[in-house]
Amino acid sequence: LKRLTVPAMRARKSSREGGGDPLVMLTAYTARNAQLLDPHCDMLLVGDSLGQVIYGLPSTVPVTLAMMAAHGAAVVRGSYHAVVVIDMPFGSYERSPEQAFDSAAWLLKETGAAAVKLEGGEAMAPTVRFLSERGIPVMGHIGLTPQAVNVLGGYGVRGRTEAEAAKIMADAAAIDAAGAFAMVLEGVVEPIAVAITHAVSCPVIGIGASAQCDGQVLVAEDMLGMFDRTARFVKRYDDLGARIQDAAARYAAEVKARSFPGVEQVYAAKARAAD
Ligand code: KIV
Ligand code: NA
Repeated sequence: LKRLTVPAMRARKSSREGGGDPLVMLTAYTARNAQLLDPHCDMLLVGDSLGQVIYGLPSTVPVTLAMMAAHGAAVVRGSYHAVVVIDMPFGSYERSPEQAFDSAAWLLKETGAAAVKLEGGEAMAPTVRFLSERGIPVMGHIGLTPQAVNVLGGYGVRGRTEAEAAKIMADAAAIDAAGAFAMVLEGVVEPIAVAITHAVSCPVIGIGASAQCDGQVLVAEDMLGMFDRTARFVKRYDDLGARIQDAAARYAAEVKARSFPGVEQVYAAKARAAD
């Protein structure tokens, strides 16, 4: 089985007739999670959300290029089907298109991923064009942009005022025109999400947006019930956190009762069939 490609993703404008099925995307930070999610996803996102989810950081702002490269390489090694997209961390791309190119090229060389994602609209359009024209496919990310938490003051929904809605529409149009192969649209009121989906030529991947977007993305740990943040837009498909706690509690009880390890888990002096 050959890995999916960026142009194949770009062609999946599912909101348009003949655009195919909606794009399925989840985050992955580790080889094993990538392996488990890969058969079900068109794209795997090595999101900078790993800052909070894996490293316990308060936001994505402290995440570094080295962290993204290490996890990106693991996800590429663990997958063979999905397009792997890596987030550019805060501070690695905003200063200039040249800075962004150096960071993005290094990430792709270190990891083998196919594309990068960066946050921002009109201000980042020249950078999106610069990278796209030089061999680096770019996924945009607009609406609620978590790296801008210190400017936005929080993670609230975007697009409730007319001015904010108009700005997000302009951001979408700008990075679409600049050549983004897709864009994540996060945390916006649904009518804006629908309008943007129909207005731009590239696929719009929603998170806290609309089922009418061209695809959806969620943080895997959120939808698996592994992380305790509770945004309205997260649907929990499992409660792995509770299951892990339960497994740890049963293990602890068996250790204390000396019922683990049992006869199946210890080695006899003479080799048995299963040894
Ligand atoms: O970092 C991340 O996980 C993301 C998705 C939520 C889109 O950017
Ligand atoms: Na991100």
